[in-house]
Amino acid sequence: MKAFTYYNPVKIYFGVGAIENLKQELTDCGEKILLTYGGGSIKKNGIYEQVSGILKEAGKTVFELSGIMANPRTDKVMEGVEICRREKIDFILAAGGGSVIDCSKAIATVSCMEDPADFWNRLFVNKEKTDQAIPLGTILTIPATGSEMNTDCVITNWEEQLKYSYSSIHQYPRFSILDPEYTYTMPKNQLIYGSVDILSHIFEIYFSKPDENNVSDDVAEALMRNVMENLDTALQDPLDENARSNLMWDSTMALNGIIQAGKEEDWMAHKIEHALSAFYDIPHGAGLAICHPAYLSYICHKAPGKFARYAVRVMGCDPKGKTNEELAEEGIRKTREYFKKIGAPVTLSQVGIPAGAIEKIVEKILLIPASYTTLDREDLKKILNSCI
Ligand code: NZQ
Ligand code: ZN
Repeated sequence: MKAFTYYNPVKIYFGVGAIENLKQELTDCGEKILLTYGGGSIKKNGIYEQVSGILKEAGKTVFELSGIMANPRTDKVMEGVEICRREKIDFILAAGGGSVIDCSKAIATVSCMEDPADFWNRLFVNKEKTDQAIPLGTILTIPATGSEMNTDCVITNWEEQLKYSYSSIHQYPRFSILDPEYTYTMPKNQLIYGSVDILSHIFEIYFSKPDENNVSDDVAEALMRNVMENLDTALQDPLDENARSNLMWDSTMALNGIIQAGKEEDWMAHKIEHALSAFYDIPHGAGLAICHPAYLSYICHKAPGKFARYAVRVMGCDPKGKTNEELAEEGIRKTREYFKKIGAPVTLSQVGIPAGAIEKIVEKILLIPASYTTLDREDLKKILNSCI
């Protein structure tokens, strides 16, 4: 295993009724709270009313930023920054999915910059270090991104058609409230996309060096099996509390640093997806269901033993009489079949992306050194062409 430092200060309140801990968490958060949320799902399912009641009881002065869109954009970040700077906000409370939490993290950081005007280039392109952010807490409503327990935020610059991430330890939420019942009202497609995203995070970490015996890979395999098992149950019975609980914790465990310990990580498939959603505003998990299996097919010959291990231990392939290469291909084929079975898109045309767009999309993909192999734009073209 690689040497690592593990640090994660996020306090998690998990379980039905976990919201009862909010009041005590608010005691040392200052007076002025910015409550952030999305397009209105929290108003329909009662979370807004519950949270507003607790804020009122705690005697807080509450400001709101609503309408945070999926794949949140730079102008929404600036809208929040203006409120925070004008009202001298003490604490941000984000109630929603990854988009709401990510936008809130960006607002928290950018609000503390001396001059926030060029935050996109300084933070998201040039990755300038920042040394503070407004503290924030989250109330998670969709298991998917892991943003509830990590340092990252992903923002779209719609004008430039770029979707990039920014990471800072000051963006760790102070606390996150995870009530599985809050996910009951998720539309079926979001449940599917969120679960694909969880699996995809695990792929990015698991399919990376080192491959020899290590605890992170063993935990990752258990998580992948757990996601598939509990997604199947939740699709059959959306009110199955145990399945919802497992999926919620899978989401957090996939990207809170635990299974990253000692691993290189890859993230190239995510960079490909971010370019897809930066152009076509598709849900992140939908884009991943299309491009991640294609990416794995393209690179699996670099580590056939690892892909064979995945095929057998996670996808239940029978190894008898097969080479590692054959097993590797079978495991990825079964993954794509699984995505199809649960109702995720597996081709670009299914989400309205024409073959003719591939060239311009490839130009916007952030090329990074990946783990088993490093690709160039010609490789990326081939991968996306295999997704038509
Ligand atoms: O906006 P509202 O009305 O709340 O509706 C949302 C939204 O339309 C709805 N929803 C969420 N919880 C619900 C619900 N509807 C009913 N009941 C509920 N309980 O679901 C829709 C999607 O929400 P969104 O927050 O966009 O989904 P997700 O959590 O998948 O977040 C996706 C964003 O996170 C980024 C993605 O790129 C994308 O921008 N990511 C963030 C990461 C991170 N911070 O670590 C890592 C990921 O790889 C990812 O890139
Ligand atoms: Zn993701």
